[in-house]
Amino acid sequence: MIRIAIDGPGGAGKSTIARRVAGALGLDYIDTGAMYRAIGLAAMQKKTDLKDDHQVARLLSESRIDFHDEKIFLDEKDVSAAIRTPEAADMASRVSAIPAVRDKLIALQRAMGQNRNVVMDGRDIGTNVLKDAEVKIYLTATPKERARRRYEELLSKGKQADYDAVLQAIEKRDHADMTRAVDPLRKAADAKELDTTNMSIEEVVAAITKEAEPWQ
Ligand code: DC
Repeated sequence: MIRIAIDGPGGAGKSTIARRVAGALGLDYIDTGAMYRAIGLAAMQKKTDLKDDHQVARLLSESRIDFHDEKIFLDEKDVSAAIRTPEAADMASRVSAIPAVRDKLIALQRAMGQNRNVVMDGRDIGTNVLKDAEVKIYLTATPKERARRRYEELLSKGKQADYDAVLQAIEKRDHADMTRAVDPLRKAADAKELDTTNMSIEEVVAAITKEAEPWQ
């Protein structure tokens, strides 16, 4: 049994790396950020007042999240592309600070990670969701480098982007994710930290698969 937990701030390359590590080792991949984004998208569509506990409870009981072949479905609709906008990222950060949202998604994530060989990425996987994961990685990169990657990603998808605005959004989201009261982003004491600022994707994947060797 091997579970690999990968945490870190936005734009550190978690999902790209996690997907490749899962592919290289034949493990399933679970993107927990996508789940917060899907709930954020649902809140946007249903115009949920996030300050109203009853509305949030209704949103959670009425929203169904599933993964099929690494695509994410909200109420049986494929929202894999719709959750990747800057607005959805901002909403994801907001809903992820609400304890009721976290309780529901963490329970789902734990169920998905049970008795299964997985790579799971997020903010609190090593510190909370899979506290006893065999391998824990904390991926970082400087805010400037993370902004550059997000900016390039947006351009490559044919979207318009402004580098300074992307950098500002990253710094704002880092601050929100690290200072929120529930499950703030932090490195687990037993996680291996990898600063990817000057590393290629292949180098990061190789470093993580090496950590996983004892369980292969
Ligand atoms: O990794 P991402 O950008 O897709 O994450 C979107 C938001 O969800 C991010 O602002 C933090 C939050 N998140 C979280 O609080 N816990 C997780 N395990 C994953 C994401």
